[in-house]
Amino acid sequence: MNGQSLKLALLGCFLCLATVGCKDAPGKPKLESEALRPDQVLDFPTLYRQNCAACHGENGKNGAAISLANPVYLSMVGGDTIQRFTAAGIPGSLMPAFSKGAGGMLTDRQIGVPRAWHGRDVGTSRCNRRCATASVRKQLSR
Ligand code: HEC
Repeated sequence: MNGQSLKLALLGCFLCLATVGCKDAPGKPKLESEALRPDQVLDFPTLYRQNCAACHGENGKNGAAISLANPVYLSMVGGDTIQRFTAAGIPGSLMPAFSKGAGGMLTDRQIGVPRAWHGRDVGTSRCNRRCATASVRKQLSR
């Protein structure tokens, strides 16, 4: 083997090790375990825990702010109202605006999640108000 081909062989070896080595490099996210980007989270309990629980309480109650899991509240308020407050906040109070348009961190799809979750079964003939409220409370206590 002359000097030239030894160099080539070494180079080939190095490249091979480099590519194989990189595949399982520590810290490199694997596809299946890759965490969702914050703006891709659409799971209500997760969104709630990350954005609302600090004020509205761990399970939607016993927080500093109004209990959202209160059945009386939920039976009075509609999905529209929840979506509006979540997007725009309540000026003059501690309730922040969450929509990106209003300076918040949540996308329009995410803003729609509490609403969708509140009204999940409403409108189907088999679910009345009480059933919708129960489903909301179940979600919040997960
Ligand atoms: C920094 C504290 C804080 C955070 C975080 C927060 N809220 Fe609020 N929220 C409040 C306060 C305080 C009020 C009551 C404002 C008032 O009426 O004076 C409120 C009110 C509301 C209302 C209206 C209640 C009504 O009067 O009908 C809704 C709906 C609501 N919050 C939903 C949410 C959701 C959903 C999240 C998370 C995406 C969230 N909040 C996060 C503090 C907060």
